[in-house]
Amino acid sequence: MKRVAVLISGRGSNLGALIAAQDASYRVILVISNVEGAAGLDKAQTAGIATLVIPHTGKTREAFDAEVDGALRAAGAELVVLAGFMRILSDGFVRGWEGKLINIHPSLLPAYRGTRVHERVIEAGDVLSGASVHFVVPELDAGPVIARATVPVHPDDTPQALAERVLVVELKLYPEALKLLATDKVALKNGLAVFTA
Ligand code: GAR
Repeated sequence: MKRVAVLISGRGSNLGALIAAQDASYRVILVISNVEGAAGLDKAQTAGIATLVIPHTGKTREAFDAEVDGALRAAGAELVVLAGFMRILSDGFVRGWEGKLINIHPSLLPAYRGTRVHERVIEAGDVLSGASVHFVVPELDAGPVIARATVPVHPDDTPQALAERVLVVELKLYPEALKLLATDKVALKNGLAVFTA
């Protein structure tokens, strides 16, 4: 059973899904938020999971990341899962958790890295969008993809409506992808997501 820490900044829908889907393969042992009062913290506390608020304000990126890293190591985390964590992590942090650090992004990566994803998908006239779970590498949203799920884009979509449709598939996709990693069915090797049966 892998000890998983989840990093959040906000409402924590994905965190809730990861907690609900826990099985013999992983346990969420710590939730860290960089934002005080993030709604996801309540979800963790209700589930009896330890929480920590580490504000990023007034710190260098490296100092903040070192604090998060220290908390993760002290808790004995084996895997680190970013779930709506809206901070860019330093290269040093990412390298220290290489192959153990994953993120979910609300687009069909490698398309639409970064922010304003749903606005850009609608502006481009795409008919398909979705979500991707990927290994985190130093370059933003550029790591090898573990799993994707698609949703249709409707002609009259607003960014909000599309975000909600994508979120529905995220909540199923993220636990599935985490279980692949927790059971060693996927690993990061030579910059690729390598799958075994
Ligand atoms: C999710 O849609 C996630 O894909 C997105 O933030 C939302 C968090 O919602 N993440 C990113 O955009 C990362 N670049 P949640 O806090 O309710 O899980």
